[in-house]
Amino acid sequence: MRYIEFGKNHKELSTVILGMMRISSLSPNETEDLIETALHCGINAFDLADCYADGLCERIVGKVLSSRPDLRDHMWIQSKCGIRREDGIKYFDFSKEHITEAIDGILMRLNTDHIDSLLLHRPDTLMEADEINDAINDAVKAGKIIDFGVSNMNPLMIEFLSRDVEEKIAINQIQLSAAFTPAIDAGLHVNMSTDAGIVRDGSILEYCRLNNIVIQAWSVLQYGFFEGVFIGNPKFEALNKVLSRIASEHSVTPEAVAIAWVLRYPHPIQAVIGTTRADRVQQMAMGADIILSRKEWYEIYQAAGNTLP
Ligand SMILES: NC(=O)c1ccc[n+]([C@@H]2O[C@H](COP(=O)([O-])OP(=O)(O)OC[C@H]3O[C@@H](n4cnc5c(N)ncnc54)[C@H](OP(=O)(O)O)[C@@H]3O)[C@@H](O)[C@H]2O)c1
Repeated sequence: MRYIEFGKNHKELSTVILGMMRISSLSPNETEDLIETALHCGINAFDLADCYADGLCERIVGKVLSSRPDLRDHMWIQSKCGIRREDGIKYFDFSKEHITEAIDGILMRLNTDHIDSLLLHRPDTLMEADEINDAINDAVKAGKIIDFGVSNMNPLMIEFLSRDVEEKIAINQIQLSAAFTPAIDAGLHVNMSTDAGIVRDGSILEYCRLNNIVIQAWSVLQYGFFEGVFIGNPKFEALNKVLSRIASEHSVTPEAVAIAWVLRYPHPIQAVIGTTRADRVQQMAMGADIILSRKEWYEIYQAAGNTLP
């Protein structure tokens, strides 16, 4: 496992994070096994959100922590807030009142006195930076959160918040996989009139590098917006052929190579994996031990259907 040094406490965080968005069908015992497998593989970072299965995913982890409090010291736990559903209406809410309530709800469900990182989940167009500042400062002073970050934000949104939010925005969690690369495409097609040249994210990868913001890549095996997994998918025949060949050359699985592809980006980056299976956690963790060559990295990029100028 490779690690990055992160945050106020200079923690050594694994470059693979276990995402727990899909654990709602697992029992607390099965979740405990999954967490223990992850820890055994060197994964010490865990990602949740208050909206995952309407709080159920956090509650399951909370049950594990109440029966196994010893695990907490080995786990760096991150959660997110700001996505709401009420009366069948989805909306985003970064108001001081909601962030404050959300943090207390997260701590209660997780059965812990603090989380290591809180992310604002999806941009709220109606956000006011001073309200976010108040909510985050209060939570940090009360010891409820240690580090702070955002998710799915573009550079100008982060600049806007940074002007008034005193806490450093330490993380931006965005979608990135070998088969989902808008953040990379535009940088390879600067000033070209092709679709790939359209800057959709305001050059977020370059912005994070310039500002020492850790990038967390979510849905590292998916294509589209939750359209499915590209591993073994006939829609991605060429990509799977290349991943399988490189996997056998490195004695790992194609899934591990897909993780290695994301982690090859030369800035502190973490891959948030979402499997609920211990065997897959073990296989994917191995992706952090491989450093792909430039040739391998670009071959995978093009096998996913992308072109280079
Ligand atoms: N910030 C955001 O807006 C945002 C959005 C989405 C997700 N996230 C975070 O990112 C994490 C990962 O997202 P994700 O779950 O979409 O990630 P993923 O790792 O790309 O996908 C995991 C899913 O793919 C399935 N799968 C099918 N074939 C697989 C294979 N060969 N290897 C591994 N998995 C396979 C898994 O099923 P099995 O469980 O059966 O293995 C699981 O349902 C989430 O848990 C969450 O923490 C953040």
